[in-house]
Amino acid sequence: MPDFQDITRRDVIKTAAAAGAVAAVAGFEAPGIQTVKAANDTIAYGVIGTGGRGSYLLKHLLNVSNGRCVAVCDIQQDKLDRAADIIGTNPAKYKDYRELLADKNVEAVIIAVPLFAHFPVTRDALDAGKQTFCEKSIVFTPYEVHALRALAAQHPKQVLQVGLQRRYSKFYALAKEMVDKGMLGDVTHIHAQWHRNPGWVMNGFNWRLYRDYSGGLAAELASHQIDVADWIFGSGPEYVIGVGGLDTWKDGRDVYDNIQLIYKYPKNQKLVYSSITTNAHLPYLGGTRPEFGELIMGTGAALEITVGDGQSTMPTGLWYKEPHHVAAKPAGGKEGAAAAGASYALTAGSKGLPLLLDSDQISGDDGFLTREMKFARRWLYSKGVMTSDEDVNPVETELTAFFNDAKTGGHPKADVEVGLRDSTAVILSNLCMQEERRVYFNEIDKMGADGKPDQYAADFAKRDASYRQSLANKKKVNA
Ligand SMILES: NC(=O)c1ccc[n+]([C@@H]2O[C@H](COP(=O)([O-])OP(=O)(O)OC[C@H]3O[C@@H](n4cnc5c(N)ncnc54)[C@H](O)[C@@H]3O)[C@@H](O)[C@H]2O)c1
Repeated sequence: MPDFQDITRRDVIKTAAAAGAVAAVAGFEAPGIQTVKAANDTIAYGVIGTGGRGSYLLKHLLNVSNGRCVAVCDIQQDKLDRAADIIGTNPAKYKDYRELLADKNVEAVIIAVPLFAHFPVTRDALDAGKQTFCEKSIVFTPYEVHALRALAAQHPKQVLQVGLQRRYSKFYALAKEMVDKGMLGDVTHIHAQWHRNPGWVMNGFNWRLYRDYSGGLAAELASHQIDVADWIFGSGPEYVIGVGGLDTWKDGRDVYDNIQLIYKYPKNQKLVYSSITTNAHLPYLGGTRPEFGELIMGTGAALEITVGDGQSTMPTGLWYKEPHHVAAKPAGGKEGAAAAGASYALTAGSKGLPLLLDSDQISGDDGFLTREMKFARRWLYSKGVMTSDEDVNPVETELTAFFNDAKTGGHPKADVEVGLRDSTAVILSNLCMQEERRVYFNEIDKMGADGKPDQYAADFAKRDASYRQSLANKKKVNA
């Protein structure tokens, strides 16, 4: 093993850069546009809604080799043209998503329209026989929770996946495995935050600032982290209490600009959640990341984890053993290195230890440079100089998995029930803040269950018309 007494951070960066250069020469770098792919190896997909998220997904789809973009759709011409330019495959362009759904070349669709329009587009995509991926939060209203569950049951052979990408992160899978193996002792609490400064600034018409189209911070931000808690705790919550305020951004929006929520889970575990728009500090991970992350607390250890922004920062995590913990009794299975494509550092102390991924493990197949780089990185991790990052963006992992499931008939990790549980939490979180009361999750069973499709269609048409008018005016028009 090399002696690391003299290694500096600069040496490591130099080594990493050299390894990067080797990868580039070997042709491993992603090309600027999606390369031509064999039709029978790939799923032909269309993207509906190519605004902020849709175009972000298209940029990542350039790196996803088992899908091939054949169509894009947006009601705004500039967004449509930009989408076609990003993906570079000369896709068919549609302004009406029903025309895209009628296109026989399209096997799968990726839906990234505003929240209020998720359900109608998802419903029509399933009815058109398409494999369907819809961004979170999958539905907007209680009626849609029931309607989508019923519809999904009528289309059991089609994939229906929701865009909760943490479910596809190796670090989050590792955290889940550590929890399930009892490595954190009894997990009793999760704290989660998504803080921004400033929050969403009014710049023309922004649908997410209005309750007619959006679930506000609960839908746009908290939904990801409530899903993490549901996953870690193994169920949805029993009830939620909370306080929401519109205290800073008094610019015409009607969604809260700060929310504080507490969720009680069936085994008395709690998720304590905060989203504010006046300060972006994240007190986890040594203050190295801003805005969002989760702290999972057990009687034996704590884990700090974040997914990163997927651009300049990637998912990472730190593990803190409780100094006075006596016995970490595994809840199931043997205690030992977790094996979800990753492992954890074994030594303990009060300092956070990084979760390590497979890419950090030293193997006999590694070339000299790679091995040296891994030793150096692990040494630096142990000194707390840098933390291990996920090697593939979970967004690319979730999209690869979607196409793979579409091809093989596989079942998504972020399936319709995960999505509906998450949407239910968003809907009820907003309700508890609006009505200033404790809201039980079983209240959803009766809410919207007697809705009528015709009435729903009429309400949606009105909402959609006001949204489109607002886009044209660049100013909110009342629904
Ligand atoms: N998973 C994540 O981390 C993540 C991140 C950001 C956004 N999102 C989700 O993505 C969705 C879109 O958000 P966004 O930020 O891209 O919004 P956006 O306003 O930037 O983009 C939405 C696009 O949909 C288009 N559109 C609206 N109605 C349409 C219709 N009927 N047919 C075709 N196109 C239509 C609009 O013209 C717009 O270009 C939201 O549900 C949001 O929550 C998810």
